[in-house]
Amino acid sequence: MSLASAAGSVHVRAPGKINVYLGVGGRHDDGYHALATVFQAVSLYEDVIARPADDFSITVSGVEDDGSVPLDDRNLAMRAAKLLATATEHTGGVALEVRKSVPVAGGMGGGSADAAAALVACDALWGTGLSPARLHDLAARLGADVPFALHGGTAVGTGRGDQLNPALARGRFDWLLVTSEQGLSTPVVYERLDLLREEEGALADDPPLSLDVPIPVLQALRTGDPRQLADALHNDLQAAALHERPDLGDTIDLGIAAGALHGIVSGSGPTVALLCPDPETAQDVQTRLRDEGLDPLHVHGPVPGARIIG
Ligand code: C5P
Repeated sequence: MSLASAAGSVHVRAPGKINVYLGVGGRHDDGYHALATVFQAVSLYEDVIARPADDFSITVSGVEDDGSVPLDDRNLAMRAAKLLATATEHTGGVALEVRKSVPVAGGMGGGSADAAAALVACDALWGTGLSPARLHDLAARLGADVPFALHGGTAVGTGRGDQLNPALARGRFDWLLVTSEQGLSTPVVYERLDLLREEEGALADDPPLSLDVPIPVLQALRTGDPRQLADALHNDLQAAALHERPDLGDTIDLGIAAGALHGIVSGSGPTVALLCPDPETAQDVQTRLRDEGLDPLHVHGPVPGARIIG
């Protein structure tokens, strides 16, 4: 039995993410799109506490009690715990407590962070001791973004976003996150992208089923220079997210007018991430945007992936 389980509970923290680059290719037969993306884990975290129990149960705090986060087998943390139990033939359950800080349906991988945290927490609680490679395999079965929430830092994701390679990133990047009360559904945004591409006649030239991250994005991360990264920010899902939520374009414009270097829709949105040159400017821009009625969060990246903190 591990020390953590002897203590009666395991507390794991996992980060949300921004896609500093997101290229979307064609749709595979399984419905998933080919991706080439660069994830960066940022200092906005989900906390998962796992306690011993005979059955499986979950509570969630830090979010409206409006059904937006399911408390049954549709919950990704619950699915993660059950998948680990099945894979390791562990008998017995777990009582999961999820404390959310990452916006729900915000394009920042909050649900994926919950799943990654639950995997690590149950592995420690149950003493199943899986290798990082096996944890990664289970994570990939839960969702395309879950492996990254395990690893954290800055990483290139290809395939469906689940084939990860670390990317060299120097220094610290300061972001302001403008969240929305109303979330956006990831499948809806991907479907919108397909429709927009059909309308544009892009099907004459089918989107590729394998793609790479452009070299200038990786170079910008390596220099640690926010100005270079600002020039390289790109998200193929942005047009689709703006189609659903045109106001996000105004948010990006406001952020740039207030002093951010550049802004981007994070993942499938609707969270907008504004890149700032340094922490002081980020605070300045935050104050100016508050005067405009927005309430941005100041975070930084990269930060580590899911880890046990108690
Ligand atoms: O893997 P995850 O559950 O995060 O994906 C949610 C949805 O996003 C998928 O059901 C799919 O509609 C879309 N998606 C996609 N291609 C990807 C990743 C996600 O079409 N590579």
